[in-house]
Amino acid sequence: MSNSAVWVNGIHVGGWAYGYSSYALDITRCLTVGGINVIAIRLENYPESSRWYTGGGLYRNVWLRKTKRIRVVHQGVRIVTQYADARKAILALEVELENTTNDDATLDVAVEVRPSDTTEARSPGTCHHQPNVSVAATDKTVLEFEMQLKSPARWEPGSPNLYVAEFVLERYGAEVDRYEVVFGIRTMHFDARSGFFLNGRRTKLQGVCLHHDLGPLGAAVNPRAMERQLEILREMGANAIRCSHNPPAPEWLDLCDRMGFLVIDELTDCWREGKKRNDYHSVFDSWVVKDLRSMVRRDRNHPCVILWSIGNEIPEQLSAEGADLSSQLRAMVRAEDSSRGVTAGMNFVESGFNGFQHTVDVFGWNYKPSHYGKFIEHNPGIPLYGSETSSCVSSRGEYFFPVSGRREDCLSGYQVSSYDLYYPHWATTPDVEFEHQDRHPSVAGEFVWTGFDYLGEPTPYNDDQTNLLNAQSESDRKIIAAEIDMHAREPMPARSSYFGIVDLCGFRKDRFYLYQSRWRPDLRMVHILPHWNWPERVGELTPVQVYTAADEVELFLNGETLGRKRRGAYSYRFRWDEVRYEPGELRAVGYKDGELWAEAVRRTTGSACAIELLADRADIGSDNDDVAFVTVKIVDKDGLLVPREKSLVTFEIAGPGKILAVDNGDPSRLEPFYAQECRVFNGLALAVLQFEPDRNEPFTLIAKSSGLPDARLTISALSPSLQLDETLCIPG
Ligand code: GAL
Repeated sequence: MSNSAVWVNGIHVGGWAYGYSSYALDITRCLTVGGINVIAIRLENYPESSRWYTGGGLYRNVWLRKTKRIRVVHQGVRIVTQYADARKAILALEVELENTTNDDATLDVAVEVRPSDTTEARSPGTCHHQPNVSVAATDKTVLEFEMQLKSPARWEPGSPNLYVAEFVLERYGAEVDRYEVVFGIRTMHFDARSGFFLNGRRTKLQGVCLHHDLGPLGAAVNPRAMERQLEILREMGANAIRCSHNPPAPEWLDLCDRMGFLVIDELTDCWREGKKRNDYHSVFDSWVVKDLRSMVRRDRNHPCVILWSIGNEIPEQLSAEGADLSSQLRAMVRAEDSSRGVTAGMNFVESGFNGFQHTVDVFGWNYKPSHYGKFIEHNPGIPLYGSETSSCVSSRGEYFFPVSGRREDCLSGYQVSSYDLYYPHWATTPDVEFEHQDRHPSVAGEFVWTGFDYLGEPTPYNDDQTNLLNAQSESDRKIIAAEIDMHAREPMPARSSYFGIVDLCGFRKDRFYLYQSRWRPDLRMVHILPHWNWPERVGELTPVQVYTAADEVELFLNGETLGRKRRGAYSYRFRWDEVRYEPGELRAVGYKDGELWAEAVRRTTGSACAIELLADRADIGSDNDDVAFVTVKIVDKDGLLVPREKSLVTFEIAGPGKILAVDNGDPSRLEPFYAQECRVFNGLALAVLQFEPDRNEPFTLIAKSSGLPDARLTISALSPSLQLDETLCIPG
């Protein structure tokens, strides 16, 4: 990240400007055969290059690929499902072959398509054989053919079946190259009248936007940290992710294939007009063709990818030249892959009506739910979805009174109330988006800003001028400018976002349960907020909200009913605004169709009594890639989380382990992530642990906090056969 330049044995062999693109260099001519070879890579990430934290240095993997002189071209395979039902699939395959020798070659090409190891349906492979394929000396050729498969195990979020296509090239009966591609069999399309269809079934996009960083671990690739994020999102019921606003690491797409997420793969946050001084605009003209091609060629066989996004909130959306440029970019994408649509996330109302909307196949709107109806009426042939929605902000476990959506009631001490009622000027509550999605079922779904908190953009305490780009009117502009100005005069207030449904550590905020109640309507779940430890509020109005998919809820305080409420039309949360606080127990009982369905309890807790340490996995790989996420929880004598606890916890390690990072999910925490101590934030903190290099004996984390007994947790090494799967990182 970014502007990389590569030298081999002192010879400059190439480089790439955009830090999110993958590229390959042929270094054969520079190598010393049998000797020592030195590869040097220089990276330079200019200041002011992005609106969010980009990371720095060599933050994604580099692979050395040794190939034959006659071979399948790197990323030269394309596999498209032309037709698939339960009985058969028709695949269109294209493979580019390359002959770097000085002799013409005639090859036998054999292809086997078989279920991958992760696919449940075990059926024998299907083969295709193409003899006598000529590839002239120092030339390339493209082979195109179809294959039919019986009873295909199709890919979809609930059953992410994958296949492997293995290409074997033979010359004079001897193998000259072997190349594998993982892919999935699925059909999909967008329909302007009914939304998104996967394998013929209407599928609502229950999506979130994600930046690429991994919270306290920073931006460097870590497959387990990515997998954990996806596990948490899946538990919430998310089935789709927009990787805002840049192509992700290839390992992340492998995970989305395996775990069953639908992905919008996005190129950039700007075209010719930049948002920051050294943004992508500074290289746009010289690089955009290469970057688009790199993204599409690298990612086109991933079944998870459903749309190519050519940009986010591109300022050019307002001009005719911008629309022309958009059409040109779409044509470039289609040249590499015409099996998916092209989209963009647009933030001005005008772009839905000024002609720009015709330059994409599927129109994405950021924060425009109240215009969905008008768009549908004016653009009956263009599928629509919410490419960024809500942007509600909150701090986990913080609640401010009185409860309203007004700024002065929601913000305090660099925190934002978790009653989920506050959002910046361009945004809405989750509920408003839900209502408009429900009123317009043809909208294909939404991508909430954001699934996880991320590094950078600490709105509403953000003094970045780019916030002004969201102003829709002069009066909006004035309000946003005044807020920016106010925060610019303060010392650094916060360093990470408040947008996440989940905080920077992966701890669920209240909103997690609001989305879960909508996206997993069959889950018997009732969530009560706020916590019930308010000694200073006895007798004061302390509103209670309940998130659940039940259609009726009765709330009790210390056994007394506070009323049974029925869900109204377009109502997504249950509210009791007149509750007067008294310590004790809140109980919410949910009913569906009049039957008891689920219930939950919130109790006033005692004071802190113990530290609890809970690992996401107590056995991890000792391969320097795997990590354990340990939740540090301060509990009372009954084991209940003490919800306002902010005490300091210090850590020690006994044995061959180390602490990679600590944090607590508080966006205003300015201490380093690389530390041996951390305050809990509202009862919770996180320690990320790893084995010392080349060690695998168990090690122990010891956590200490003043006045509490020490807590210990031992991490062991997984047996070698269960270590992190190397094939997760597929160089192709
Ligand atoms: C959007 C933008 C996102 C993020 C978001 C915050 O306008 O596309 O990147 O800044 O606002 O609400």
